[in-house]
Amino acid sequence: MTGIKRTYLDNAATSFPKPKGVSEAMCHYIEHIGANVGRGNYRSAYSADEVVYETREMIKTLFNAEDSKNVIFTPNVTYSVNNILKGFLKPGDHVLVSSMEHNAIMRPLVQLTHQGVTFDRIPCTREGKLVVETMLSLVKPNTKAVILMHASNVSGTIMPLEEVGHFCQRHRLKFIVDAAQTAGVLPIDMKSMHIDALAFTGHKSLLGPQGIGGFVVTDEMALMIEPLISGGTGSLSHSEEIPMVMPDRFEAGTLNLPGIFGLQASLKFLMETGLEKIHQKEQALTNRFILGIKTLPEIEIIGPKDMSHRMAVVSIQIKTKDIALVAHELDKQYGIMTRVGLHCSPSAHKTLGTYPVGTLRFSFGFFNTEKDVDYALEALKNILGYKS
Ligand SMILES: Cc1ncc(COP(=O)(O)O)c(C=O)c1O
Repeated sequence: MTGIKRTYLDNAATSFPKPKGVSEAMCHYIEHIGANVGRGNYRSAYSADEVVYETREMIKTLFNAEDSKNVIFTPNVTYSVNNILKGFLKPGDHVLVSSMEHNAIMRPLVQLTHQGVTFDRIPCTREGKLVVETMLSLVKPNTKAVILMHASNVSGTIMPLEEVGHFCQRHRLKFIVDAAQTAGVLPIDMKSMHIDALAFTGHKSLLGPQGIGGFVVTDEMALMIEPLISGGTGSLSHSEEIPMVMPDRFEAGTLNLPGIFGLQASLKFLMETGLEKIHQKEQALTNRFILGIKTLPEIEIIGPKDMSHRMAVVSIQIKTKDIALVAHELDKQYGIMTRVGLHCSPSAHKTLGTYPVGTLRFSFGFFNTEKDVDYALEALKNILGYKS
């Protein structure tokens, strides 16, 4: 497309652009290293090993995890959650999830109900907020865990991880967290939040490439999860059993090494920039957008109105126009990229009162500017028929 400024406002789906250094690191691996890890006895294999180890250490530090050996690389949150839930839950177990969860949680969980696992949804408010007091009445003698997103990909609502973590600790429940929307923006402390397993994806706010993510577990939790995938690990090759040693137990097969090199570069960028600075900038952009939207009476903002409870994800509904047509116009006329529909989260939309139509979602990232926000507001006004 020529002549139209392209403005990317779909960072909740995947972040774009990536920081400088990410594609360079991936190319460096492919062009100059190329060796597998844990399998070759030569220098290039050792240098790849080193980067993988350093990246695990960085993830460990980012989430204040117990040990870098408990950082497991997978392609994404979806794969991680499948491994955690299917490896941990047994017939007869019961779990709690919030009513805001993404299908990355709900689909594996519903699959598990066919094998005798049951679950209850913790009802959230019309703003997507979870009230911890509502959880107690849902706990049963066979409840084994609480599975919760850190923030909603639909409404941006931030969940009270620390409070839920304490609840889980008091009631001897395992706490499994989906950090898809927050890793790289909000602080996550596995120890003080009592998180037993945390799933992350590299391509959203961690600003890395697609196809690399993972999960982090405590020592205790690692022993309670059966690996979903088994195969060669380059270690203990005399045995045909999947080894107990971490992280090999959960990393059979060759890792996504270009992805890990890219992720290391984005983690370096995040650590040099600081999460606080990233969060503040995204909050300022979101606030600017919300203030602008509030001047348009035909638009309803879905989710929390107060900035302290939300992320840089703003879903709207429009009384006077079809949101799918608006999204189409935003792209065609103005080059503005958004997302419309249910965002893989039917349960969240039922909670927010936006099912089955869904919402038009704008999601901002660290590389967006105030100009991008103003341009999107101007475009919306034009589409709605306001004279500029
Ligand atoms: C809250 C939430 N959980 C899970 C996922 C799945 O992430 P991935 O596709 O990287 O596995 C997403 C992606 O949109 C998400 O927003």
